[in-house]
Amino acid sequence: MFLSFFLISSFSFSLGQASLPLVVNTWPFKSAATSAWSVLRSGGSVLDAVEKGCARCEVEQCDGSVGFGGSPDESGETTLDALIMNGNTMEVGAVADLRRIKNAIGVARAVMERTEHTMLVGEAASVFAENMGFVAEDLTTNKSLNIFSLWLKGNCQPNYRKNVSPDASKSCGPYRPQAVQTQTRGPRHVGIHSHDTIGMIALDQNGHIAAGTSTNGLNHKVPGRVGDSPIIGAGAYADGSVGAAAATGDGDIMMRFLPSYLAVELMRAGADPSAACKSAISRIKRHYSDFFGAVICANITGHYGAACNKAPSLTQFHFMVSNPESATPILKSVDCF
Ligand SMILES: *[C@@H]1O[C@H](CO)[C@@H](O)[C@H](O)[C@H]1NC(C)=O
Ligand SMILES: *[C@@H]1O[C@H](CO)[C@@H](O)[C@H](O)[C@H]1NC(C)=O
Repeated sequence: MFLSFFLISSFSFSLGQASLPLVVNTWPFKSAATSAWSVLRSGGSVLDAVEKGCARCEVEQCDGSVGFGGSPDESGETTLDALIMNGNTMEVGAVADLRRIKNAIGVARAVMERTEHTMLVGEAASVFAENMGFVAEDLTTNKSLNIFSLWLKGNCQPNYRKNVSPDASKSCGPYRPQAVQTQTRGPRHVGIHSHDTIGMIALDQNGHIAAGTSTNGLNHKVPGRVGDSPIIGAGAYADGSVGAAAATGDGDIMMRFLPSYLAVELMRAGADPSAACKSAISRIKRHYSDFFGAVICANITGHYGAACNKAPSLTQFHFMVSNPESATPILKSVDCF
């Protein structure tokens, strides 16, 4: 009893050590952390850190779930979503369902800095990106083609449609509507390898704070589907007087609860970062007890934390922390609850 109490308290203390500057990012995406950290170490801005960090994952196709060549939709196309937020000015740039452009976080930043808008979507977002000088190229790779053709061969399973006929569990459509059943909770196929969005928070010693995300969404999604990542307050949120948060996981579920916004508001009300993350997860858990997801949180004094929901595919969540306590980014983990 005493021992377990001791372990738990020392664990949460180590999660909360404060020192600035700070970068926290989801998953063991180490080179993303290193890229962001080297921007901050060399005196760069928190926005540059978040952009470079997420862009690193877009280039490296982190876990196949960020950047080109991953998560083909029902038509075989890869589309990208990204968000960047300046917590000091409350400016945001976001893109969703972006096609043919690899650097989604770069386009999100261009939306923030080169337009009066906040979010651009779909084909028009791609045209905007091309006009801003981003290179248009095919996001399909042999790997994404292979994921797509295996799915076709397997009768389009897994499948995200419901309340349609004929037998949606076997067919690739076309789909006809069926009577809508309330309370249907069909099996969801969202797990650690189908949705590992990078979410990142960066803070410096001068009180600057930024957050961002980048993802290619969900394998086999219905074309047009946008998850939580580019949605402000869902995928990420930052407020220079409080802190920031970012989320990863089953975006279709998580975006209904604005977990990043909620976590920031809880920190505003005095919650420490670990507790704020935990409460944001609990709010979702109340309705979807086995959803797949995690949230990272940091406050402006450099304390940080994370929480995840215990699910069949997730018992422990890994994330990266970069601060002056260590020369290189450190892999941290938190047990899901
Ligand atoms: C992709 O597949 C094609 C045809 O099978 C092959 O010619 C090409 O070398 C492959 N590309 C890569 C990058 O593996
Ligand atoms: C950040 O969280 C730590 C740990 O709970 C707390 O001691 C500190 O006061 C918080 N900072 C702010 C600015 O709220």
